[in-house]
Amino acid sequence: MNLEQLNSQIQDLKTNLEKDLESASDIANISTKYLGKKGEFKKIAKEIKNIDAKSRGEAGKLLNQLKINLQKQLSQASNIQSPVSNIDLTIPGKKPAVGHMHPISQAMEEITHIFEQIGFTRVRYPEADWDWYAFEALNMPPSHPARDEWETFFIDIPDTTKEIVYDENNPRKRHPSKAGGKVVLTPHTSNGQVREMERLGKPPIRMINIARCYRRQQDATHTQMFHQFEGLVVDKGINIQHLKGTLDYFASEFYGLGTKSRIRPFHFQFTEPSFEVDFSCHICAGTGIKNGEKCKFCKSGWHEVGGAGMVHPNVLKAGGIDPEEYTGFAFGWGIERTYTLKEGLNIDDIRLIYGSDMRFLEQF
Ligand code: PHE
Repeated sequence: MNLEQLNSQIQDLKTNLEKDLESASDIANISTKYLGKKGEFKKIAKEIKNIDAKSRGEAGKLLNQLKINLQKQLSQASNIQSPVSNIDLTIPGKKPAVGHMHPISQAMEEITHIFEQIGFTRVRYPEADWDWYAFEALNMPPSHPARDEWETFFIDIPDTTKEIVYDENNPRKRHPSKAGGKVVLTPHTSNGQVREMERLGKPPIRMINIARCYRRQQDATHTQMFHQFEGLVVDKGINIQHLKGTLDYFASEFYGLGTKSRIRPFHFQFTEPSFEVDFSCHICAGTGIKNGEKCKFCKSGWHEVGGAGMVHPNVLKAGGIDPEEYTGFAFGWGIERTYTLKEGLNIDDIRLIYGSDMRFLEQF
């Protein structure tokens, strides 16, 4: 055989391959047909020994080139057919998405931590509770007009008053009036006040009660279900300064050093005196002015957050505590509002927090 013949065999092989590639679909088969042990390439390659010595070098080059081309062509064809072989193992992998706590859960943890630092104990009380704990024990007898504030959901179940069995070890025994009666979805966490007095039996009390609350309201700044946290301290000699100090401590821990609290006279049936609580705006440092203009975040230097006061003697009595011997303060307000004021979040529609739009939730 001479070089010319070899060349023409190579050309034939190429044309056949083209044809096969066009018609056949199984690239693996075509691969074996051309590059396999008994394949077309091997057949031609064997001929090299019949080529005269001086052309053998040239023939070798031709065959090498042919092999490279065959490999290239076949691998390209198989890539097109099965993209799996296209995987680039050197590309860094995708990290699985790691979730995080819901912003409200984060706020709850943070608030709990802040109060635990100064000796408060986190508790939770029933979210469907007797009217007695939510209102009556808080100095709001049935049909007291002050109850209107709380836009309450009443649960339609039979009055269980007579079915309650008292036992010696049950602290409720001392206060039979509170067991049974109507059941409400707690409209505030203040139901925890008398429950905590009962749980401990006697002061000192340092409670932080965080729970869901329910009110008949739904708009951009209110949801029917929301969260509140309630602080209660009862001991000998507790006065307004202790309340003010606690509020200042919370303000600077939660919103940043230098944030202050302000208390303004107000009215609640279960505290006397009662206050509304404001926190200084951390965006304008409580001045109401930012970059020479009215602060857009607070407009006045302060944010109103919630209520507080000195525990009313009737509430202490309801919890079996002698108001002549002990005094206490309480405060409480919404977690949603407290949290959305933080870090200039200024979320104008609170309902977003309870939607499931990940684009929103992922930001926290
Ligand atoms: N429970 C009151 C409310 O929901 C807030 C409050 C708590 C006021 C404790 C005084 C003391 O508005």
